[in-house]
Amino acid sequence: MAEAAHAEAIDPVVEKALSEANLTARDLSAVAVTIGPGLSLCLRVGVRKARNIAGLFSKPIVGVHHMEAHALVARLVQQDLQFPFLALLISGGHNLLILAQSLGQYVQLGTTIDDAIGEAYDKTAKWLGLDMRRSGGPAIEQLALEGDAESVKFSTPMKQHKDCNFSYAGLKTQVRLAIESRKINAQIPLSSATTQDRSERADIAASFQRVAVLHLEERCERAIDWAMEMEPSLKYLVVSGGVASNKYVRSRLDQVVKRKSLELVCPPASLCTDNGVMIAWTGIEHFRMGRFDPPPPAEEPDDAMIYIPPNVVNYPWNTFRCIGPL
Ligand code: KG4
Ligand code: ZN
Repeated sequence: MAEAAHAEAIDPVVEKALSEANLTARDLSAVAVTIGPGLSLCLRVGVRKARNIAGLFSKPIVGVHHMEAHALVARLVQQDLQFPFLALLISGGHNLLILAQSLGQYVQLGTTIDDAIGEAYDKTAKWLGLDMRRSGGPAIEQLALEGDAESVKFSTPMKQHKDCNFSYAGLKTQVRLAIESRKINAQIPLSSATTQDRSERADIAASFQRVAVLHLEERCERAIDWAMEMEPSLKYLVVSGGVASNKYVRSRLDQVVKRKSLELVCPPASLCTDNGVMIAWTGIEHFRMGRFDPPPPAEEPDDAMIYIPPNVVNYPWNTFRCIGPL
């Protein structure tokens, strides 16, 4: 179904983007396209379209890593943001702490050992019977404003691990048990809940959010220390990915960054959640450095074998190192 939805959307989306920019494909310098990580059936739809345009008009092609794009879009909104910088990337599928040393040179300081924070927001929203039309995150953020964040005592994940990794599976279980023990019925939408029921749900939302974000705060503090040892000139923490559009997340991380005398760079919400601008921008960054593939053949058949690398972190020009506790 996801593949079919992509196939249906791709032509009109590309046409609309070109016409709103007052351009035709002929005017382009190159074509940038996401090559991963993600569902390969969906990625393939985009890659096929990109190769098709690039082939027809003889344009170079730039393969883009989705998470790299979440980080680099910060350099579009803040043009004086130079390397090195630290990036916290928080989305539905990823929780990454990355030291970006230069374009294409990344050191991974931490990742999740199970779920990402966005997944925890989405499940919590579903179990609380919230409106998921705009995904779970915004619904939790809004309901949490009514709740008491100290009322439910969830424990902070991975306290005993002195590293920069994340874990959200245990917090998810704690939330599920809290919801079950209060007999909250997710079938009853929030709009029909009694005052008492609504306030219980709000307390869980607020308490979950406080601890989920506290986990980010603790890991960022340590990551800043690690990164400062490697790059003493470090000035910025970039926070991006869907969850970075959350105002509570932004304000708590802003305080962490201030305590460490750094500056927070957080793109506007529309550029934090998945968007095409970040892919185009990352394409521009690599293209300017001469990092692109030559135009594909003009008449490549639609069913041509297109190679989507299973692991794109080192493809095609990026290097990516992981480090453990120092
Ligand atoms: O980056 P993104 O748009 O897609 C992925 O690459 O996964 O992130 C989507 C995630 C979802 O889990 C969604 O619930 C979360 O970002 N999200 C939020 C907010 N807006 C989106 N989480 C918390 N608060 C928000 N305001
Ligand atoms: Zn994303």
